[in-house]
Amino acid sequence: MKLWSGRFSKSTDPLVDDFNSSIRFDSRLYKYDILGSVAHAKMLGKCGIISEEESSLICKMLLEILADIENGKIEFDIDAEDIHMNIEKILISRIGEAGKKLHTGRSRNDQVALDMRMYLKDENIKIREMITELITVLINIAEKNLDVIMPGYTHLQRAQPVTFAHHLMAYVQMLLRDRERLSDCYARLNVMPLGSCALAGTTYNLDRRMTAIELGFDSITENSIDAVSDRDFVLEMAFCLSVLMMHLSRFSEEIVLWCSHEFSFIELDDAFSTGSSIMPQKKNPDVAELVRGKTGRVYGSLMALLTMMKALPLAYNKDMQEDKEAVFDSIDTVKMCLPVFTGMIKTMKINRGNMLNAARSGFTNATDIADYLVKKGVPFRDSHNITGKLVAYCIEHKKDISELTMEEFKSFSPVFEDDIYSVITLEACVNGRKLTGGPANEIVKASIEKVKKLL
Ligand code: ARG
Repeated sequence: MKLWSGRFSKSTDPLVDDFNSSIRFDSRLYKYDILGSVAHAKMLGKCGIISEEESSLICKMLLEILADIENGKIEFDIDAEDIHMNIEKILISRIGEAGKKLHTGRSRNDQVALDMRMYLKDENIKIREMITELITVLINIAEKNLDVIMPGYTHLQRAQPVTFAHHLMAYVQMLLRDRERLSDCYARLNVMPLGSCALAGTTYNLDRRMTAIELGFDSITENSIDAVSDRDFVLEMAFCLSVLMMHLSRFSEEIVLWCSHEFSFIELDDAFSTGSSIMPQKKNPDVAELVRGKTGRVYGSLMALLTMMKALPLAYNKDMQEDKEAVFDSIDTVKMCLPVFTGMIKTMKINRGNMLNAARSGFTNATDIADYLVKKGVPFRDSHNITGKLVAYCIEHKKDISELTMEEFKSFSPVFEDDIYSVITLEACVNGRKLTGGPANEIVKASIEKVKKLL
């Protein structure tokens, strides 16, 4: 029998039961549902809304049910619709009358909002820890590669020399922001909705703050309609995860490029690569490709959630049950991607020589020639033009800039002098860029130290 069957004269069509039920996926909320109920029951007892004996009996049995679920002793019932009613039904079957009092001053609408907030808070913390792991691995590698020169790219064309450390630290900055975004999101998850009931609060004199403190929430929701209506906190989490995956997918793309024969900047460890079923020579970057590919489903969940919420009238609507599978999938996906991605990065081999060689060709020091001329009094637009002609000359004569003779230099501008040769070494190009944020060894080192302190 359904907990809400009083006003019905017929039982639900099995098709509807199946369609309506969310226990298949919301069972994962069992722990939060039970802890939320324990806090609610304690508060009901303290406030004299149920007796202290009833309250402690309910709490004791709820914790037993929790243990039984964890030991695999309980099978949920599709007929009981969702996790909230499953647990309430089990409770009533075990302690009878007292169990029937648990739902006093509560609705599934504020209950589900509570469970989701508690679940997301925990996952939010776990994911931030995983990001921190990845950041730690990256700064370790960066520290060991402060002098490793590689080409920086724009349009995937060699642009200016940077260091591998500088490049990795770019991702560290993105990941730090991802962590920060999640902790901003956490602050908005950390608000306790119980007491909002179905939508209009309740006439019982509940102590909402007591429940909030018991459950480790910072504050309580301000408006009962809002508290059961909105899922912006779910959306925000899905958004934070989408941005994180966007960053990981860009990094993955670079890993795929870098381990290609064409780049050969890195080699992935055998433990983090896969083979081909037909081509014996292949070693494929499947991990990076899957992270890149899975970004799609995380974006998809965000879009599904936005669309699901669009134009819903206040307050609760059953549409909102659809929030779960979407955000659960985002969380599962991110939690699968982060550790394997971190392992792949941690074990990759870096081909320093190939990075340097790539930076040597492609005229990545051309900007420094233009800047050299500026420092000798040539206006930048002219120096840019002169250097462009010089590069065209080098391409035509199949020469690197460093191979030009002094006469050749002078034929482009009389201000060129012998010191040009030291200005255009890649080391000078990199280490001369000492502004905050730049690739110079000392600057990247300082930036690594700053991040270490932050962690
Ligand atoms: N399973 C429901 C959900 O996930 C719980 C809330 C149900 N509330 C209701 N009024 N039917 O949204």
